[in-house]
Amino acid sequence: MVLELRDVSYVYPNNVVALSNVSAVFSEGEVTCVMGPGGSGKTTLLLVASCILSPVSGEVLLDGASLCSLLPGVRRRIGVLFQDPDDMFFNPTVYDELAYALRQLVSDEAKVKSIVMDVSKMLGVSHLLKRSTFTLSGSERRKVALASILTYNPDILLLDEPTGDLSIKDRLSLLKLLKNMKVLGKTIVIATHDYAFARSIADQVLVLNSGRVVVKGGLEVLTREVFLKYL
Ligand SMILES: Nc1ncnc2c1ncn2[C@@H]1O[C@H](COP(=O)(O)OP(=O)(O)O)[C@@H](O)[C@H]1O
Ligand SMILES: [Mg+2]
Repeated sequence: MVLELRDVSYVYPNNVVALSNVSAVFSEGEVTCVMGPGGSGKTTLLLVASCILSPVSGEVLLDGASLCSLLPGVRRRIGVLFQDPDDMFFNPTVYDELAYALRQLVSDEAKVKSIVMDVSKMLGVSHLLKRSTFTLSGSERRKVALASILTYNPDILLLDEPTGDLSIKDRLSLLKLLKNMKVLGKTIVIATHDYAFARSIADQVLVLNSGRVVVKGGLEVLTREVFLKYL
């Protein structure tokens, strides 16, 4: 599925203009890294792109149709990894967290279990299934949060700082996983200030500064000058 932001702006209730006239196309099988300094609007962009926040002007289009008007029907097509994984957890155990969304879609509990097992293995969190989410470390939380999205197999992945707290080994696993997702034709948008990670995965780079797109293009736009000026 193709997700498009067309001239999108967003202003928080306290009048902070977090996005100004942002346009971008996120295509199938492509990874876009949204970069920029803290406070530049990366998180807001993901929240608007998923219509968790409605833009004050402009349009968010999913395969050409207004995303906000397609909700909640297409919610399951879009997986959002929040910057703070704690914002996503509300079940007593990791297992329930992974099964929760899936149970809304699949009534056969044996099938739910088999998918939860597969995904938790893929993310290396099988040993945590009986734990309470509140007892997890930062990197465990992030992996469980990502797993909780992958269980329902969304077409679009919007990931906010997915490498935060991850060890080098975990980062490499994530990289491999995202490359597989790309091959499967997923549309992937990653907000990150992890320059090395972006270099190793991005097809498209969008650099934000004060809510505006200041640089857009392939990896070649991540020049030393851009790095020093904005990242
Ligand atoms: N809930 C909020 N209420 C008011 N202002 C906010 C809120 N969330 C973020 N902002 C402001 O919006 C701007 C963009 O923030 P954000 O999208 O979180 O940037 P980034 O993810 O790049 O750090 C910042 O100036 C930030 O202070
Ligand atoms: Mg952020």
